[in-house]
Amino acid sequence: MKMSRPYEGIRYTSEKQVVVLDIGSTYTKFGYAGEGTPRGIVRTEVKCPDTKQMRKIYKYIDTDDLYQLLVEFFHVIFFRHVVITPKDVKVLILESLLTPSKFRDTMAKVLFRHFEIGSLMILPTHLVTISTLGWDTALVLDVGYQDATLIPIYKGVPVLKAWQSLPLASEAIHERIKNDMKEAIPEVELTERVIEDIKVRTCFVTTLERSKKLGADDAPAPPPSVKYPGLKTIEIPGYVRERSYELLWERDADNLSIPTMVLDAILKCSIMIRHELAGNILLIGGTTMAKGFAARLKSELTSLVASDLYSNKLKIPHFKFHTAPCKPNYTAWLGGAIFGITDLPSRCITKDTYLKTNRIPDWVNLIDNQKELGSNYGV
Ligand SMILES: Nc1ncnc2c1ncn2[C@@H]1O[C@H](COP(=O)(O)OP(=O)(O)OP(=O)(O)O)[C@@H](O)[C@H]1O
Ligand SMILES: [Mg+2]
Repeated sequence: MKMSRPYEGIRYTSEKQVVVLDIGSTYTKFGYAGEGTPRGIVRTEVKCPDTKQMRKIYKYIDTDDLYQLLVEFFHVIFFRHVVITPKDVKVLILESLLTPSKFRDTMAKVLFRHFEIGSLMILPTHLVTISTLGWDTALVLDVGYQDATLIPIYKGVPVLKAWQSLPLASEAIHERIKNDMKEAIPEVELTERVIEDIKVRTCFVTTLERSKKLGADDAPAPPPSVKYPGLKTIEIPGYVRERSYELLWERDADNLSIPTMVLDAILKCSIMIRHELAGNILLIGGTTMAKGFAARLKSELTSLVASDLYSNKLKIPHFKFHTAPCKPNYTAWLGGAIFGITDLPSRCITKDTYLKTNRIPDWVNLIDNQKELGSNYGV
């Protein structure tokens, strides 16, 4: 009889499980399909063997570099975090609208050729997210680390012509806090992690009324400054706490901001579905968890739709937000965990098919959405 290898017990107990991964630009959420919360959330980075510095996966130099980074990253994910032998397992990955093809192609190559996984399903974040609502229409706005991206989903179909994206998310907020803190306390150099911690613990989204007065002569008194402990206790001025999120609402030279993204997306959709979309807004991504975010977005939308910029194009009396059954930073993961227990053969590529064709279907490519080609992808 063949001797079983020590890790085979792990395989045996989790043979039917589907590993669900949402690989965000800063945080990766991992766990199993059918579960209500991810098993964990880790940073999307690996330790460089030469410099011993942490390297972000998305800051790769070229595809060879990305291949190495992903091998290292998935090794840690599978063996240290998910604790599963990847050979022959089913993997479901959520991808953003902006994921470059070379990223998904390299990722598939690493998973199939290096880790020899059994099958791979890549699904779009915004689409899977609405399965957490039990409802098929929503305007999904994801504000994470790098970008704010938005796609309306109508009756389960993404309205791709209305998609929007702007680099208005945590990365830009961190940059602002860093600059403000450099001015306030030039002698202290803050790392990205400390800035993130300062943001989450001390900063908040102020109200529209207060924001209009910031910087004016009759500006309201700033909120109190707070002490942030560390090697050296530093003081976070009240104005830094209040202004850090303002760049999300300030319109740039092209009049673009998060509220204009929402209204522009609604405008690009058919007039028949505009009210329904405005009444079903779903906020996902860690940045939307900031205190006051949803309330500010609602007042910005109500005021903007009545302004000269939109009043003659769009008539929307109410904007309503959904509350997903979990925290916004892992709603997309939960959507994937729900999809993972359903049978979606047309979206699933098996190892045999990949090794024959050497490519993975693209969900926005018409060629991959034609029925007769389904047989190429393991249907
Ligand atoms: N309670 C909170 N308040 C404010 N910000 C938060 C909170 N929780 C998480 N964040 C921020 O959310 C960001 C991460 O969000 P998320 O996990 O959605 O990003 P991501 O998926 O890695 O990025 P992306 O989707 O842009 O690729 C971090 O910058 C984090 O600081
Ligand atoms: Mg994300």
